Amino acid sequence: MLEACSRHTQDRVTDLWCAIESKREREDWNDMIRKLRLMGDPVLVSEAEPVDEVTASTKTLVSDMLETMDSAGGVGLAANQVGVLQRVFVYDCPVDDSDPNPDREYKRGAIINPVWEPVGEEMQLGQEGCLSIPDVYADTERYMNVRVTGLDENGDNVDFEATGLLARCIQHETDHLDGVLFIKRLTKERRKEAMKEIRNSEWFLSNN
Ligand code: NI
Repeated sequence: MLEACSRHTQDRVTDLWCAIESKREREDWNDMIRKLRLMGDPVLVSEAEPVDEVTASTKTLVSDMLETMDSAGGVGLAANQVGVLQRVFVYDCPVDDSDPNPDREYKRGAIINPVWEPVGEEMQLGQEGCLSIPDVYADTERYMNVRVTGLDENGDNVDFEATGLLARCIQHETDHLDGVLFIKRLTKERRKEAMKEIRNSEWFLSNN
């Protein structure tokens, strides 16, 4: 039901917006966004369990994770990051991040029980960050091209090749499911620097 908002009762477009606003104020809307776990939480260094059967609750988890990722402005999110030790991650990345066209194609979805392998030996070095380690970015080396297989939230097979940022995301998120944070993938020197930044950050001090 559309609820009239006292501020704008004149036109339909703002009425719709008011309906969205009032929906947001209801608790069930907020329930879809799950709490992000930050570095220092043991769940982030725990290995996630394979999903035996894709069920309605897997679908709910995926939909909540997509919404949590979007609201945090991320390009990927693993289940550990919302406190669930199941091998599930979601992603939303450009298919070709070297394409400067603002209308470039994006690939978005979920991969359950992901398994990836490198395609070729080419590596990429680029800035990586993590929603569980806010405001810390560091050059991280990853394979440039990978092939990933698994299931989607409907239990259908997923099998595709990815390059650039999408390939980086697949490697980063699968690491999460193994209890590995990107800090571990840095050179010794970069890791030292990143750890210093983490130790001095407000979120780390207030969580640990
Ligand atoms: Ni991450």
